[in-house]
Amino acid sequence: MQEVIDRTTTATTPAVARRPGPALSTKLRARIDRDFKSRWEDEWGGKFVTHGKVPGSDAVRLDGNDYLAVTGNPRIVQAQLDSLRQGQEFIVQSGVFQHDGSAASQFQSVLAAWVGKEEGLLCQSGYTANLGLLQVIADPQTPVYLDGLAHMSLWEGAKAAGAPSYAFRHNDPAHLAKMATRHGPGVVVVDSVYSTTGAVARLHEIVEVAEQHDCMILVDESHSLGTHGPGGKGLCAELGLTDRVHFISASLAKAFAGRAGFFTMPTELRDYLMCHSHPSIFSSCLLPHEVAGLAATFEVIKESDNARRQLRANTARVRSAFVEHGYPIHQGTEQIISLEAGAEADTLVLRDALEARGVFGAVFCAPATSRNRAMVRLTLNAALTDAEMDHVAAVAKEIAPSVKPWEWPIARRLARGNDAA
Ligand SMILES: Cc1ncc(COP(=O)(O)O)c(C=O)c1O
Repeated sequence: MQEVIDRTTTATTPAVARRPGPALSTKLRARIDRDFKSRWEDEWGGKFVTHGKVPGSDAVRLDGNDYLAVTGNPRIVQAQLDSLRQGQEFIVQSGVFQHDGSAASQFQSVLAAWVGKEEGLLCQSGYTANLGLLQVIADPQTPVYLDGLAHMSLWEGAKAAGAPSYAFRHNDPAHLAKMATRHGPGVVVVDSVYSTTGAVARLHEIVEVAEQHDCMILVDESHSLGTHGPGGKGLCAELGLTDRVHFISASLAKAFAGRAGFFTMPTELRDYLMCHSHPSIFSSCLLPHEVAGLAATFEVIKESDNARRQLRANTARVRSAFVEHGYPIHQGTEQIISLEAGAEADTLVLRDALEARGVFGAVFCAPATSRNRAMVRLTLNAALTDAEMDHVAAVAKEIAPSVKPWEWPIARRLARGNDAA
């Protein structure tokens, strides 16, 4: 029997007769040929750029976001199992139908109170949280000012609102001020910790500028909720800024290692938002076992001071190993380390060199980065062992002479003193 490759697992599966459907439009085909064909065939060698080797069981995995290593925690697993076994009657429907008092609504209130805000909304993902919030708080007359490295879901939210979006230079409050002077009051949008660099937002100064220009401010805490701040309450809490930011959002697929998102809002917005935010009206809600798992994860995270300390120690250790061997990673300081080789071809050489030695990161390239700023992103976690970190350091040293990180474009930018690079 003929065999086909299942691209998701690279396992071979028996062929099923798959007849092509109607032809794609000529226009769409032309677009694919024009914009993608040579990238796919020539630059990527006919293979997804994000798919390198399949990691073996002894691989050092630096490609996940489970920063506190909570996956598989028996309390979380048990909570999910109990919920599934209870078999309570549950109607899968849009979030807007869920009554106050449901498990989801109780959990979102607890989470909001924990981060120090009045109300919260649990969403299907961090992406829909940002989209559903911005779609409501902005409109065509409300400019949205986004940090140049803000997450794509935030840009999509501004687009969904029909709002004019303006990018300010990454982590540059002065540039934000210039834009806000020109375009007027609106919504300022930043990540707390940037997902492609591990840089921390200059939140104090950005909040100052937002206040001076009568703007609301949204902070996406996806990469700091659980890991930063007292008890994991996030960066706004750590910096004492919670009361000065209007909205906090987060993916719960990072430190919470779930499949959900969340945002906070003031009580006065709640009813309006619930009646206008498209993802909670037009898309179904989380399932009870997912909510139960998140609620149990929350309890684990609150008690994870040791894991937070360990994550910080691991971050310092792995970062200093890369710096020692000449890797230009100074644009960030946190648990996300970007090895920004720049060109996609150089990034693939870097990825292959790491993977050949059992170190697995994630390739990020356009549209996740700008063209020519491709990278292998490494994300650290609290459960990395000494042996694993020693191995990563040894690999960084071994491959440096061949991947020449000191020649990457970012090295020149950082040497010129452009820290935001
Ligand atoms: C900063 C930031 N916001 C939002 C998201 C979207 O989160 P989710 O994967 O839960 O949709 C991500 C994940 O890539 C992220 O890094």
